[in-house]
Amino acid sequence: MRKGVGRGWKVALATVAGVAIAGVTMAQPIGEGWILGAENDAARFELLQDDAGGFGRAMFEASIRYERLYEALTDGNYELARHHWDTIEASIGNGIVRRPGRAPNAEAIFLAEWETIDAAFESADPATARAAFMTAREACMACHVAEERAYLNDQRLFTDLVFN
Ligand code: HEC
Repeated sequence: MRKGVGRGWKVALATVAGVAIAGVTMAQPIGEGWILGAENDAARFELLQDDAGGFGRAMFEASIRYERLYEALTDGNYELARHHWDTIEASIGNGIVRRPGRAPNAEAIFLAEWETIDAAFESADPATARAAFMTAREACMACHVAEERAYLNDQRLFTDLVFN
């Protein structure tokens, strides 16, 4: 019984939310059934797609891994550094799948450097690996400038995480 009442309540809320959220054409169910409560599978997939995000989400993921990469290099854990470097490439790849307009700069500025930097981490030579991190950092920042997001470079991720 409670379930039935719950559903009715959700439908009512969905209608309200559908009206309240500007630009959302379909009703967005809220609460536990925020996906399953949608009208059909097409609507459910749309909710999942929106939730997965675009390039910004992929970048958010990449930036956390970039921070961990810096830590790994600080600790001299080159296997871990390569793991993070690998997942950063995967995150950027996911970003390109979602926003192919970013692909040309991502490839020319960043992915073109990926293998050389990976080899530097593999060398396990501290100076070589640290210099490679700085090359990666330059590539990240250059792409932000190329994509007209220069303000992204003015944050601690780039100003503090450096090797001298
Ligand atoms: C295609 C070139 C490109 C490359 C390569 C790139 N970025 Fe980005 N980055 C962007 C763009 C564009 C945005 C803004 C995305 C958006 O919000 O839609 C962004 C956003 C970000 C953000 C903000 C994310 C947030 O929380 O919203 C961070 C942090 C970031 N990048 C870090 C990095 C790091 C670290 C690297 C290198 C490992 C990197 N980026 C490589 C283009 C790039």
